[in-house]
Amino acid sequence: MPPHSISIPLFTLTLLISFLSAQQQQQQQQDDRSTPFVGVNIGTDISSLLPPPSLVSFLLSQRITHVRLYDPDPLPLLRALSRTGIRVCLGVPNNQLLALGSSPTSSSAWIQRHVTALYPDTLITHISVGDEVLSSLPSSAPLLLPALNSLHSALVSSNLHHNIKVSTPHSASIVLDPFPPSPAFFNQSLVSSYMLPLLKFLSSTQSPLMMNLYPYYVFMQNRGFVPLQNSLFKPLPPSKEEVDPNTLLHYTNVFDAMIDAVYFSMSNLNFTDVEVLVTETGWPSKGDPKVEPFANSDNADAYNSNLIKHVLVDRGGTPLRPATTPSVYIYELFDEDLRPGPVSEANWGLFYGNGTPAYLLHVEGTGGFLANDTTNRTFCVVAEGADAKLLQAALDWACGPGRANCSEIQPGMDCYDPNTVRAHSSYAFDSYYQMQGRSSGSCYFQGVSMITTTDPSHGSCIFPGSKKVSNNIRGASNGTLASSDVGWSRRATGERWLFGCHILIMLLTLCLLMPR
Ligand SMILES: *[C@@H]1O[C@H](CO)[C@@H](O)[C@H](O)[C@H]1NC(C)=O
Ligand SMILES: *[C@@H]1O[C@H](CO)[C@@H](O)[C@H](O)[C@H]1NC(C)=O
Ligand SMILES: *[C@@H]1O[C@H](CO)[C@@H](O)[C@H](O)[C@H]1NC(C)=O
Ligand SMILES: *[C@@H]1O[C@H](CO)[C@@H](O)[C@H](O)[C@H]1NC(C)=O
Ligand SMILES: *[C@@H]1O[C@H](CO)[C@@H](O)[C@H](O)[C@H]1NC(C)=O
Ligand SMILES: *[C@@H]1O[C@H](CO)[C@@H](O)[C@H](O)[C@H]1NC(C)=O
Repeated sequence: MPPHSISIPLFTLTLLISFLSAQQQQQQQQDDRSTPFVGVNIGTDISSLLPPPSLVSFLLSQRITHVRLYDPDPLPLLRALSRTGIRVCLGVPNNQLLALGSSPTSSSAWIQRHVTALYPDTLITHISVGDEVLSSLPSSAPLLLPALNSLHSALVSSNLHHNIKVSTPHSASIVLDPFPPSPAFFNQSLVSSYMLPLLKFLSSTQSPLMMNLYPYYVFMQNRGFVPLQNSLFKPLPPSKEEVDPNTLLHYTNVFDAMIDAVYFSMSNLNFTDVEVLVTETGWPSKGDPKVEPFANSDNADAYNSNLIKHVLVDRGGTPLRPATTPSVYIYELFDEDLRPGPVSEANWGLFYGNGTPAYLLHVEGTGGFLANDTTNRTFCVVAEGADAKLLQAALDWACGPGRANCSEIQPGMDCYDPNTVRAHSSYAFDSYYQMQGRSSGSCYFQGVSMITTTDPSHGSCIFPGSKKVSNNIRGASNGTLASSDVGWSRRATGERWLFGCHILIMLLTLCLLMPR
C-alpha cells in the first residue's frame, strides 16, 4: 500500500482519539464541577506537623480528595501532592496582596511559580486570594479586585483559566439580616465599591463566591434562640422547624439557611449564576468549659459527620436550590496547637498534627472518607445486595473447608444474634479474612463480600478484625476521644460574631410571626 493512503486514516484516527479524549476531559471537568465534594483546610501552625510525603500518604489513607492550603510556602507540599489526584485550593496569604494587587508582573510570576510549574501533575483547581480581607485586613480591600483580575489574566495567558478558578473567601458578616434567608442582603456600604464588581468578575469567569460559614458562632451568639439541634443538623420535630415566612421554605439546619441567605443577597443584586463554595466550616472539639461549653468532641463529631453526610450522601442542595449542593472544606484537618486565643482556637482539627484522630467521625456510606483506618484496620463483610443462595453457600464454605472460627455465631454465643445468614456470614468472612492476614484475594467469596473500614462489631459481639486493637478502639468508636483545636483570628476575626446578632433579631421577629 502506498504510504499516503494509510496516512489519511491514521491522521483521522489521531484526530478522533484526541477529540474523544478532549471530550472525556470536558466530561470529567463537568462531573468534577457538578459532584459536590468535602475537602479539608490544612493549617500549619502545628508543633509537630507530618513532613509533606507522610502528610500526603495520610491524606490518601483517609481518602481525602480536596484540600485547601494556607501555607505561605506551599511548594514542598504542592510537589508532594503531584500525581496523587488530590485537588488543591491554593491560598494566597493576606500579606502577599499588596504585591499581587499592585503589579501584574508579580501576579504572573506568582502563577508561574505556584501553578504553571506544577500543573497538571499537581491538580490545582482554585486560588483563594487572601482570607476574609474585608474584615481582617480592611486596608487591603482595595487590592482584592486588582489581585483577582491580574491572577486571572495570568491564568488566561497560560490557558489554565478554564480549569483553575480565582476567588476570595468572605466571612458571613458581609450578609446582613440573614434569617430568615429571603430578606438577606449584602452590607450596603460594600455593594457598589466591592460586591458588584466582584460578582461581575465571578460571573464572567464562572468562579464561585467563597464563604466561610460557621453555624457554631451563630449558635454561640444566639443561645436560647438557635437550637443546638438545628446547628448540628440534627432533626427537629416539624413543628419546631424554622420556616421562612416569605418563601415558606423549611430550614432544618442553620448551615443551609446561611447559604440561602448568600444566594438571596446575590439575587438582590441580580446575580443568579454564581455558586457558593464554602471554604471553611467546622466545629471545635474542645474549649474553655466556662465560656465555650459547646466546644466538645460529641458536638464536633455530630456537626462534621452530619455535614459530610449532608454533602456527600444526601446531596439535597438547600431549600432554595435543591438541585445544587455546595461543596465545602472542613475547618480543619489538624489541630493547630500553636494558634493563640481562646482554648477552642487550637482545637478545630479532625486529627492531631501527627495524624491521630482527635475524635472519631461517624460517616457511614461515604466510601471510607475520613474513616479512622490509620491502623490499617479493615474488615471483610457481606456486600450490599448479596444473593441469598450464594451467601449461604459461602457461609457453609467459610465455616467448613475455609476453617474460619465460627464459634462466636453458635447459639448462646456473643455473635449469634441477630440470627441471620447475613450477620453470621459477615462474622465468618471476617474471621477467614483476618486469618489469611487480610490478603487481598481473601475477601472474595464469589462476590458476596466486601472490604470495609467500618468496624462491624456490635454490642458484645466483637469481630475478629477488631480484637487485636480491642478495648481502646471500641471504647472510642462508641463515643469519642478527646479533642483538638482551631481558630478565630486567622482566618477570621470577631466579625463572625456579628452575623449572630442579626440572626437573633430575625429569629425574634420570626417567633412573633410564626403560627404556633
Ligand atoms: C458594613 O460595612 C462597613 C464597611 O466595611 C462597616 O463599617 C459596617 O460596620 C458594616 N455594617 C454592618 C451592619 O456590619
Ligand atoms: C436588578 O434588576 C431590577 C429589574 O431589572 C432593577 O430594577 C434593579 O435596579 C437591578 N438591581 C441592580 C443592583 O442592578
Ligand atoms: C498501612 O498499610 C500501608 C500499605 O499496606 C503501609 O504502607 C502503612 O505503613 C501501613 N500503616 C500503618 C499505620 O500500619
Ligand atoms: C485511630 O488510629 C490511630 C492511629 O493508629 C490510633 O492511635 C487511634 O487509637 C485510633 N483511634 C480510635 C479512636 O480508634
Ligand atoms: C475461636 O474464637 C473463640 C472466641 O473468640 C476463641 O475463644 C477460640 O480460641 C477460637 N478458636 C481458635 C481455634 O482459634
Ligand atoms: C457507649 O457505651 C456505653 C456503655 O456500653 C453506653 O453507656 C454509652 O451510651 C455509649 N455511648 C454512645 C455515644 O453510644
